[in-house]
Amino acid sequence: MRSLIDIQELTTDEINELIAVACDIIDNGAKYSEACRGKKLATMFFEPSTRTRLSFEAAMYELGGNVISVSNAESSSAAKGESVADTAKTISCYADIIAMRHPKEGAPLVAAMNASVPVINAGDGGHNHPTQTLTDLLTIYREKGRLDNMTIGLCGDLKFGRTVHSLISAMSRYTGIKFILISPEELKVPSYVKRDILKKNDIPYVQTTDFESVIPELDILYMTRVQRERFFNEEDYLRLKDRYILTPDKLASAKPDLKILHPLPRVNEISVAIDSDPRACYFKQVYYGKIARMSLILKLLEVKI
Ligand code: NCD
Repeated sequence: MRSLIDIQELTTDEINELIAVACDIIDNGAKYSEACRGKKLATMFFEPSTRTRLSFEAAMYELGGNVISVSNAESSSAAKGESVADTAKTISCYADIIAMRHPKEGAPLVAAMNASVPVINAGDGGHNHPTQTLTDLLTIYREKGRLDNMTIGLCGDLKFGRTVHSLISAMSRYTGIKFILISPEELKVPSYVKRDILKKNDIPYVQTTDFESVIPELDILYMTRVQRERFFNEEDYLRLKDRYILTPDKLASAKPDLKILHPLPRVNEISVAIDSDPRACYFKQVYYGKIARMSLILKLLEVKI
């Protein structure tokens, strides 16, 4: 039995296999419509979510399975002081697989250590978000036709943005990848990500505060929201929140085949005028999120088609 807490737990072959199954689901969806008949997914979300929770639930329904759900901490026994470990043991009696989001880094890992069914980390604090990364990889693969040989710009809150940390970790395995890390000084990629992933694997990267000057180099631009809920004071958030806003004039110097991604929700960092630009992929990315999660559920439940 396997859980997925950190994208590093998957080998590159496994990631490629998950993407291949996802592509088959896109082409032959009907084949999978009964794959999880009789199985239950529990979604336990102790932090706000629209896409991640609903895409997990939609994924399970499309596989013919069922869903039970805790949609906020206040409505569960966590509010009475129950530990994550006890909650995980309990949910294991009701469901075949659990997707958990939690504000505390490491909580889904604790759940996985105590559950008797697979646990999927659906975002733990400012740490990791492996299923967003599977979504991002599927999006890049479908929209660019490859996962290697490209320059990826990550822009915004690279410190608290958990999707950024998991994406760097996953993309660093492919050849010919260069990262351009665009953020304010205060929101740079944490040093553990640089040390344990980028430097360790000799991945070329540049850190800059200057968005406009690097736009022409990019094959992928991954925009992110400044993570208000992780700030210690509102003043810092207000000062930094609108630092980078992607507007049509900034795209004038971009490559014609640039792909713009964003895990969403968007606050202000991409002007709505960009939405109709053919390079904008963030709503397609939402669709790929459901497919990527279908592929992952099949793998962790060891369902063979
Ligand atoms: C992201 C998250 O929760 O980390 N959202 C998502 O899952 N699509 C990004 C964010 O909240 O900014």
